[in-house]
Amino acid sequence: MSIDDKYPSLNDLKKRAKRRLPHFAWEYLDSATGAEDQKTRNRIELDKILFETRVLQGEYTPSQETTFLGRSYTHPFGVAPVGMSGMIWPGAEYMLAQGCVKLNIPYSMSAVATVTPEMIASSLGDMGWMQLYPPTDPNIRRDMLRRAKNAGFHTLVLTVDVPAPSRRERQRRAQLTIPPKITPTMLWETATHPAWAIGTARYGQPRLRFAESYVKVKGNTSSTAHPGYIIRGRPNWDYLSELRSEWDGHIIVKGITSPHDALKLKQAGADAVWVSNHSGRQFDGGQSSIETLPAIRAAVGDDYPLVFDSGIEGGLDILRAIAMGANFVMLGRAFHYALAALGQKGFDQMAFMLSDDINTNMYQMGIKNLSQASERLIR
Ligand SMILES: Cc1cc2nc3c(=O)[nH]c(=O)nc-3n(C[C@H](O)[C@H](O)[C@H](O)COP(=O)(O)O)c2cc1C
Repeated sequence: MSIDDKYPSLNDLKKRAKRRLPHFAWEYLDSATGAEDQKTRNRIELDKILFETRVLQGEYTPSQETTFLGRSYTHPFGVAPVGMSGMIWPGAEYMLAQGCVKLNIPYSMSAVATVTPEMIASSLGDMGWMQLYPPTDPNIRRDMLRRAKNAGFHTLVLTVDVPAPSRRERQRRAQLTIPPKITPTMLWETATHPAWAIGTARYGQPRLRFAESYVKVKGNTSSTAHPGYIIRGRPNWDYLSELRSEWDGHIIVKGITSPHDALKLKQAGADAVWVSNHSGRQFDGGQSSIETLPAIRAAVGDDYPLVFDSGIEGGLDILRAIAMGANFVMLGRAFHYALAALGQKGFDQMAFMLSDDINTNMYQMGIKNLSQASERLIR
């Protein structure tokens, strides 16, 4: 039986991932904050976006090719930065980077990955976007930028929607500390999930290796403190201009849900804005990410580059986001469920499902390229 027959949907991969992951790793990946209503809203509001179909369009092959910030990508999607990817699945950062290179789609490495930029440099090709939480110390910041550049990252993503760690109640209940503190429960969970345990023995205990080069993270970090907490400041608007003068590549600012901020960022010189509510992990009191997108598009104008994420689960969702104003769409959890289910093959299957789903839906909608998606929206 082919992988596509055995795992034809994200839910199939997710079920297998849940079985293969120790409980704490599953909770880290799958949880949001508060009552997780925003995570639910992300799904509900995407489902409300519907399209008209068009028939008798003749022979053609839909094109998914997307140019974003001067680079041409084979598909309109890529991998969003996920902290501690290597704790979710051992070796995840390498698998994601290599998978992205094979497909010619972007890979954003998290500032709080389990690898350093140097460790991943040879797997990265030309696909590297480097995500930073704003370090307070300018020397640390400059050194991080230097190392990212030397490792081959060409695009910088500054995440600004974590001014403080959120409560992440499920992570608390799972007794997850970052870096993980070994408890008897954790040992038991590890022992009863042999594929994860063997992989972890191979790649080493998941640690914040990039951040650690600058800051000694104490073992007793609170269970919900974000892994980047110690290197993360709460900057003001001046921070962007400092960063602008220190990084000669493109800068994308991530975690924007307000038209006001998006416009201000455009005026402040950000090359693109990344519309995201961190998939409900930070603030349960906000709109779904997709609801915020049309007003942000209206505020920044038609030609300004926008990335979108939060809640994307399939190719149809990608078309929905593009129709509502996104130029590029990123996925965090989905690729990680896939890795946890089937390793590198899971990544390949997830990417195949996304591109196949985009293709088949484009045929139904009778569109040849992605920019036509908005023409089929039922308003
Ligand atoms: C487990 C996990 C860890 C994350 N870590 C980071 C991070 O280190 N930096 C960051 O900018 N965003 C982080 N995010 C947010 C993602 O980049 C992205 O915005 C979000 O996952 C997209 O929604 P989706 O998971 O529904 O696709 C994380 C998300 C998850 C699920």
